[in-house]
Amino acid sequence: MPKAKKPQSTAVIGAQWGDEGKGKIVDRLAPEHDAVIRYNGGANAGHTIVVQGKRFSLHLVPSGILYPDKKAIIANGVVVDPDQLLKEIDNLEAQGIDTAGLILSDRAHIVTPYHKAEDARRETLLAREFNEQEATGGIGTTRRGIGPAYAEKAHRAAAIRVADLLRPAELKQLVSRAAQLASPEIREDPDIPSPEAICDRFIEIGEILRPRITDTSYLLHDLQRAGKRLLFEGGNATLLDVDHGTYPYVTSSNSSALGIPAGAGISPKAIHNILAICKAYCTRVGGGPFPTEIQDDLATTIRERGREFGTTTGRPRRIGWLDLVALRYAVMLNGVDSLCMTMLDVLSGIDPIKVCIAYEIDGNRTERFLPDARSLARAKPVLISLPGFTEDISAVRSLDDLPSNARHYLSYVEEHAGAPLSLAGVGPDREQTIEIH
Ligand code: IMP
Repeated sequence: MPKAKKPQSTAVIGAQWGDEGKGKIVDRLAPEHDAVIRYNGGANAGHTIVVQGKRFSLHLVPSGILYPDKKAIIANGVVVDPDQLLKEIDNLEAQGIDTAGLILSDRAHIVTPYHKAEDARRETLLAREFNEQEATGGIGTTRRGIGPAYAEKAHRAAAIRVADLLRPAELKQLVSRAAQLASPEIREDPDIPSPEAICDRFIEIGEILRPRITDTSYLLHDLQRAGKRLLFEGGNATLLDVDHGTYPYVTSSNSSALGIPAGAGISPKAIHNILAICKAYCTRVGGGPFPTEIQDDLATTIRERGREFGTTTGRPRRIGWLDLVALRYAVMLNGVDSLCMTMLDVLSGIDPIKVCIAYEIDGNRTERFLPDARSLARAKPVLISLPGFTEDISAVRSLDDLPSNARHYLSYVEEHAGAPLSLAGVGPDREQTIEIH
């Protein structure tokens, strides 16, 4: 039988609240693609890739950068902190990685020091206020200036785009307007550089980045027309999507697959295959409802085994059982073609393994997700127990070699999530992956 033709473009999307291990999967798929594209979010995302024991932490730069012959494209929908970008480029080069393939959209928006300060100011204020009224804490952002940068984009008048870094006169005007619009507290903060200093630094960085800056929408069209294969790398994840996640405890961009056309400047018809990544359990960083959250010592065990501490902030992640209601929602919303389950090895020795198959709200059972934080906060998980496994599976490379209870877990998830499983991860290294279909 002739081998099925591989899709020309694939999107890798987080199916839960982030940190599902997308970086590792993108890294695995990158060799068979020509370009890896980030289309949303900014330095709030954190991708860790382990190659032969060497760890790479990326926030803005697409994971495809680790292959010298690939293009790594930061498209228009990303918000770029110029200093952070430069730092990542320098770090990669210091580790011997060739970054020539990194390309930046002229229309991506810039995160300024005002945005980061505003993010922190609002978080501090809100945390205090929420704590008093609701005892739920603030949004718990990464304080990377993401929300204020996207808000500025929507406000327009003082928004700075990458192309503006190359136009000193206009840039000066924009930075001074941004300073004028910043809250007095921030404007007068001695830790915030002066508008002149911000402008000089942006011009300096613009000159360094100049050869990488282009219209990435045309670039992507040209690549597609030439038959090149594209890999879209979602930042953050489906349940953090500003429209479809657990609002308001979400990020500020469309971090599901729905953000790809707008964030990369391509047609929805140009996305041919959607691969969603979920962990064998759930995690969440920051505030917001989390129906399957584990409150006892088991959470600590899973956190330590799975190294569940934020790549961006170092915060301990909240831990919960796999939520099949949420996963089915992610499959529906993204139009998922197949699923990849990571971190299966972390569940070894945990018996039973629980999964959530429905919610109960005010005595009524539902199998539908509730992407509204206040409704979801009232949902009680209906958990069922599946038998656990004790073997160390980190060296297993084929489905047949997995313990039968681990295989049973995978097939249960596949059946109830509504999409086939194509991959399972059994450890952080590139090689620690089992192909299923
Ligand atoms: P922001 O994106 O920094 O505004 O944060 C908003 C919420 O999204 C917070 O709860 C963050 O912890 C969460 N968040 C943003 N990006 C990621 C990610 O890549 N992984 C996990 N959580 C994230």
